[in-house]
Amino acid sequence: MLLNRVEKLLMNNPVREAAQRHVEARRLLRMGGAMSGGKALEVGCGRGVGTELILDVFGADRVEAFDLDIDMVRRAQARLADRGAVVKLWEGDATAIDSPDENYDAAFDFGIIHHIPDWRAALGAVFRVLKPGARFYAEEVLARFIHNSLWRRVLDHPMDDRFSHDQFRDALEEAGFELVQTQDVWGQFAWFVADKPD
Ligand SMILES: C[S@@+](CC[C@H](N)C(=O)[O-])C[C@H]1O[C@@H](n2cnc3c(N)ncnc32)[C@H](O)[C@@H]1O
Repeated sequence: MLLNRVEKLLMNNPVREAAQRHVEARRLLRMGGAMSGGKALEVGCGRGVGTELILDVFGADRVEAFDLDIDMVRRAQARLADRGAVVKLWEGDATAIDSPDENYDAAFDFGIIHHIPDWRAALGAVFRVLKPGARFYAEEVLARFIHNSLWRRVLDHPMDDRFSHDQFRDALEEAGFELVQTQDVWGQFAWFVADKPD
């Protein structure tokens, strides 16, 4: 589901970038460690800050990333133009990832899967494109936040079948992942690192 105007403003500004860089990436790095090179996928890359972090902080050699919103893809293309062939960007849907099976050494979700009505399908799609032994890093927004009356007034999210920390954790396991570490922050946000078994 595309972001509304308010959320687009909340995503495309220096405060969001600082939070992603100094809070979210650091927490995921503490939980799951860095990559030893290799090729990563970012689902729902927005304007491309996550892709930068996957290269510069997590240590991927190459990142392929997509977003449902062509305007976000264009922003990411402009931001990452100087990275050359190390980055590939396209318009796409996380429930039907345009990639062969077992293609990536890691995948990253910086707060996008809660925007997807059939979010379990997105977990299955991520699982499919990861190589055996590859790692999935996810930062997510939980049902309690999405259903809060204030946020409902200003943001647009799918409302049915949103997930708690435990529901997302269980769905990861149902998709085939083995959990490495999870964290629930005030029942509003959650963090997950999980591996595709070898
Ligand atoms: C809350 S924003 C996060 C953007 C970026 N990851 C960040 O952290 O700044 C959610 C993003 O997910 C994208 N999105 C929503 N549904 C999607 C889907 N089914 N497949 C891929 N991207 C999707 C939106 O267009 C938006 O850019």
